[in-house]
Amino acid sequence: MFKYVSDVSLLSHNIIKEYITTKDIAVDATLGNGYDCDFLSNNFKKVYAFEIQKSACDKYVDKNNNVTIINESHAKIDSFVKEQINCVCYNLGYLPGGDKNITTLAKSSLESIKKSLDLLTSNGIISIAIYRGHNEGKDEENCIINFAKNLPKSKYGVMIHECINRSSTSPLLMIIEKK
Ligand SMILES: C[S@@+](CC[C@H](N)C(=O)[O-])C[C@H]1O[C@@H](n2cnc3c(N)ncnc32)[C@H](O)[C@@H]1O
Repeated sequence: MFKYVSDVSLLSHNIIKEYITTKDIAVDATLGNGYDCDFLSNNFKKVYAFEIQKSACDKYVDKNNNVTIINESHAKIDSFVKEQINCVCYNLGYLPGGDKNITTLAKSSLESIKKSLDLLTSNGIISIAIYRGHNEGKDEENCIINFAKNLPKSKYGVMIHECINRSSTSPLLMIIEKK
């Protein structure tokens, strides 16, 4: 059993926990089954969570009373979040155990990431788990990597975690840190 080289979501949680020092406000861009949201809710004072599937929104239990659920696309993040944020967590793709046809899309994911960068505080982090084993995931990978490659290095640091001895479609984790 691997510890570090296991689950990209878990890896993102550890990076967020360790490297974000001010944990005031976080955004879960893809609520789904709520695992990332629980993590963010336990570590940040306030969380906004986006999800296009109403059933997933209705299912989420806000244990710490600090999560605002938004049944809208994360592409509209700037319409709902009007303050600076320390973290945005994207877990792209489709809902495990749900309808595989309802998936994040390259165009709206990228639109959301661009808006998130503007809302991010200095030393804030955006984590993006990309599942590239399906067609849309492959598009997201290309689109997001091409965009992130060209971010000004004076302002942003971008790092990718990828298993190089597994299938080329194994999940990938991108971390963007704002200076
Ligand atoms: C891989 S799942 C998320 C897993 C989740 N973070 C968890 O901890 O269980 C991706 C989710 O994104 C949702 N989604 C798809 N497009 C979206 C969009 N434009 N805005 C917000 N959520 C979206 C899907 O409905 C799905 O539930």
